[in-house]
Amino acid sequence: MTITDISQRKRFLAQGNVYLPHIAVIERIIDETPGIRTFHFNFKDERLRGEFTFESGQFGEFSVFGVGEAPFCISSSPTRQDHLGFTVQRVGRVTNALHRLAVGAEIGFRGPYGNGFPINNLEGKNLVFVAGGIGLAPLRSLVWNVIDNRAKYRNVDIIYGARSPADLCFKYDLDSWQKDKTVNLFTTVDKGDDKWKGKVGFVPQVLEGVAPSADGAVAVVCGPPIMIRFTFPVLEKLGFTPEQMLTTLEKRMKCGIGKCGRCNIGNIYVCRDGPVFSYAQIMNLVSSEY
Ligand code: FES
Repeated sequence: MTITDISQRKRFLAQGNVYLPHIAVIERIIDETPGIRTFHFNFKDERLRGEFTFESGQFGEFSVFGVGEAPFCISSSPTRQDHLGFTVQRVGRVTNALHRLAVGAEIGFRGPYGNGFPINNLEGKNLVFVAGGIGLAPLRSLVWNVIDNRAKYRNVDIIYGARSPADLCFKYDLDSWQKDKTVNLFTTVDKGDDKWKGKVGFVPQVLEGVAPSADGAVAVVCGPPIMIRFTFPVLEKLGFTPEQMLTTLEKRMKCGIGKCGRCNIGNIYVCRDGPVFSYAQIMNLVSSEY
């Protein structure tokens, strides 16, 4: 179930102080790569467990008490209600503190925030997912959403890459998608090892080789800036217009609700107007960064 009723979202946001997090409990920790972990969590409050909804692509502010708060996309799918998930690369104070947590630890959660992917506009389209590294986190939420409503969408291509086989995230998803005859998965690494039997090459090159048709298609791209910078021109070469390319920006968010001004790029607030944007919306704003 996704949020279709705006008043429902407002009700969550209106529960007193909007900066006050809900208490959640870590239920499972999955080591994705040596520096990346996925945390499954759920709310302590039984009522919230039952009522909480979100959309693929939305994010939350997650806090480690006594340390601080950081934004992460919700990497689980709203079509799978058994748990909520977020995926964290260890890079700083809060992320290091999150990586030190064990199952049963309590964290804070504020959200969901942002717009999410325009899932209704994707119905009836051919979908091309292009992801690199931990950039698969927001996309996997959408991929599972699509797979769980498979009849609503046409062809689904997933192109995913990482620096090495050890850096591939969500290997359990990749195994499932490889076996799923309703989606086409292309996995690649920049550099293989003795055991690697798959593709070797950068994501944009593999995308160019797969050459999905732009006709009736939408491409959803998420990954490191350098991958995105080289992916958009390939999509343009394949005939995708900037309106047919979506991406998600998740940096610089602090308050998450359009108040602090930390996340602006030009006149847009990533937290409030995004984090999901079409390339048409941001191509002039982020050209220096992507
Ligand atoms: S994070 Fe505060 S305005 Fe966007």
